[in-house]
Amino acid sequence: MVRINDVTSYTHIDGVGVIVLNSPPVNALSAAVRDGIHAGVRQAIADAHASAIVLRCDGNTFIAGADIREFGKPPAGVGLGEVQRALEESPKPVVAAMHGTALGGGLEVALVCHWRIAVPSAKLGLPEVGIGLLPGAGGTQRLPRIVGPEVALELMTSGAQVEAADALGIGLIDELAPEDDLQGAAVALAKRVVAEKRPLRKLRDQNDKVEAARGNPELVAAFRKANAKKFRGFAAPEKIVQCVEAAVNLPFDEGLKLERKLFVELMQGEQSAAQRHYFFASRQAWKVPGLKKDAAIVPVQTVGVIGAGTMGAGIAMNFLNVGIPVHIVETRQEALDRGLATIRTNYGNTAKKGRLEVGAIEERMALVTGSLELQDLSGCELVIEAVFEDMEVKKHLFGRLDRVAKAGAILASNTSALDLNQIASATARPESVIGLHFFSPANVMKLLEIVRGDQTSDSVIATSMQLARKIGKVAVLVGVCPGFVGNRILGQRQREANQLIFEGATPWAVDRVLYDFGFPMGPFAMSDLAGLDLGWNKDKSTGATLREVLCEMGRRGQKTGAGFYDYDGQRTAQPSQLVEGVIRDFARKKGIAPRQVSDDEILERCIYPMINEGAKILQEGVAVRASDIDVVWINGYGWPVYRGGPMHYGERIGLPKVLSRMREFEARHGPQFKPAKLLEELVASGRKFSDLSPLARTPAFQA
Ligand code: 3HC
Repeated sequence: MVRINDVTSYTHIDGVGVIVLNSPPVNALSAAVRDGIHAGVRQAIADAHASAIVLRCDGNTFIAGADIREFGKPPAGVGLGEVQRALEESPKPVVAAMHGTALGGGLEVALVCHWRIAVPSAKLGLPEVGIGLLPGAGGTQRLPRIVGPEVALELMTSGAQVEAADALGIGLIDELAPEDDLQGAAVALAKRVVAEKRPLRKLRDQNDKVEAARGNPELVAAFRKANAKKFRGFAAPEKIVQCVEAAVNLPFDEGLKLERKLFVELMQGEQSAAQRHYFFASRQAWKVPGLKKDAAIVPVQTVGVIGAGTMGAGIAMNFLNVGIPVHIVETRQEALDRGLATIRTNYGNTAKKGRLEVGAIEERMALVTGSLELQDLSGCELVIEAVFEDMEVKKHLFGRLDRVAKAGAILASNTSALDLNQIASATARPESVIGLHFFSPANVMKLLEIVRGDQTSDSVIATSMQLARKIGKVAVLVGVCPGFVGNRILGQRQREANQLIFEGATPWAVDRVLYDFGFPMGPFAMSDLAGLDLGWNKDKSTGATLREVLCEMGRRGQKTGAGFYDYDGQRTAQPSQLVEGVIRDFARKKGIAPRQVSDDEILERCIYPMINEGAKILQEGVAVRASDIDVVWINGYGWPVYRGGPMHYGERIGLPKVLSRMREFEARHGPQFKPAKLLEELVASGRKFSDLSPLARTPAFQA
């Protein structure tokens, strides 16, 4: 074996030169890896004893893509294009041998090899779209030449990973290798190719599939139309479509040129910067600084859920889905039956959509039991309370639970806003109490805010994080404050949205501005969907708020055909002049004279206070790091991932601008806009949120 550089070696097996990469964690195409492949190919070509070449990786995976950490840094090492040319132009056949995940630039390297082989567990894909990019190393031109433009469009705009068996079916690989002998099978394939004197196959020369699609522009038009809603706001999918159009209509090298141009545009754009930020943010969020490394993990074998409402039922499903039995406790049989029926219906609906096998419904239902006795939770290692949001109710319940639950059990509350420390104080074991704030619908929404109380133990936190991963959630650890991270920031946006409509903006204008920003819907459309009468009581209604007035008028949201908007049978929202009149009357009574409110003001008034609140959350130590706040907002509140979350967005527009606007708003509208101290400090010292290290400013987290 010859060492080529720190991450590459070259070895000789049975007359075949084998280049082996070993660059943990994912063999990404760093400068060292590119240099290594390039030198390895030259070595193999010069090696008189090698008739063919195999490229493979050690470790968990084949090359998982370009090295994202290198993006935006000055270029170093051999360029990827040059590496690919060396492989493609090699006079000796090159076989790519894949295991783990062959993704992005990794798959694009395999696509310039003359043959491809993979083990059955391997997955292949071009996921660049997920970080706001397109496959920039020839993928957009070569993939359509193998799988056809239609499948290529689907794969590249979704970023989906293809299982090896399916990859064989669509021609992406030539052979499957035994799981435990990839190298042996790759060498055998290489020798066979040489023995049979097969001509070296280059995908760039295979034109039959793209030629077949030429003169059929409807194919691409139909694809654009079918996906318009899914792609809304994103820049990368449209550019991928343009590259595929080029693959169909232009010679290979011209298509490649367009791909390069569009790739560079995306790489330099705001969206990819935001999505790359999110890529790392979502991985960082799992890392809890200061947590004891050896914190004991509680083996959770049975979960108890208190409350069988929509929330309780949804929470239970998360555990049933991964084979953990759940016992649900309710106070009334009728409510319990309804909750169990909800679970069955939800599974039935998933099965109807083809996302669950019908047989699996019974398997999962067999894992759920229910009763009316809290005592029945005595065997559970984790109990999650999902009852009415009322402190006294919760404290009383936790007091009783404390007497029932076994020693060492985790006692969790699904509260979305209440003081977890107070809830914990109702027990004699506050160290076992934690908040698990699921988002509705709990079986669908990805986000889980894990709320650490003042006394929550490391073991309880570590177990909760691990369980969250097991049930497929994106977990973010937060501290205690009213509304925690997500709802506390939402409160800022909601307050401004409500205020802006009294000052003269219409609800439809506010909704449109936030929709155009990238949210799935604006706050007023959202209120209509949720129901304006949430928490409203007819007998106690005083007509003091706009919401109360609308409810009194019978305008309780979509379900009543009217709320802020009017709705026709198709649930299409139409602005309501009646509501505009009600708002004007209200404003008049409050002494607010209506004025023209610009779209820019709507956006800044709604978004900047959120960034400011995020800064307060950081300064109080309620969030571990700024990027955690972004993860919360992207996964729980529909913040567009291509804007990176409120904290990243604040940095991109510039913290000095946010601060100066907040000061202006404070002077004009009042103390609700008072800038956070941390924001002032950062601007004064020319720093950003992302310059702060995770532990530096979080007294609550310092052991
Ligand atoms: N570049 C740099 N670092 C990467 C990376 C990459 N392409 N892919 C993963 N990593 C890092 C992660 O940040 C993480 O680092 P950490 O331990 O410090 O947090 C570590 O590798 C392990 O990653 P995961 O935690 O994600 O591990 P998993 O085992 O869950 O997943 C994976 C592995 C499926 C490879 C997943 O990491 C992944 O999807 N990676 C990104 C793949 C991708 O987007 N590739 C395209 C890159 S762009 C490109 O290739 C452009 C080209 O067209 C020119």
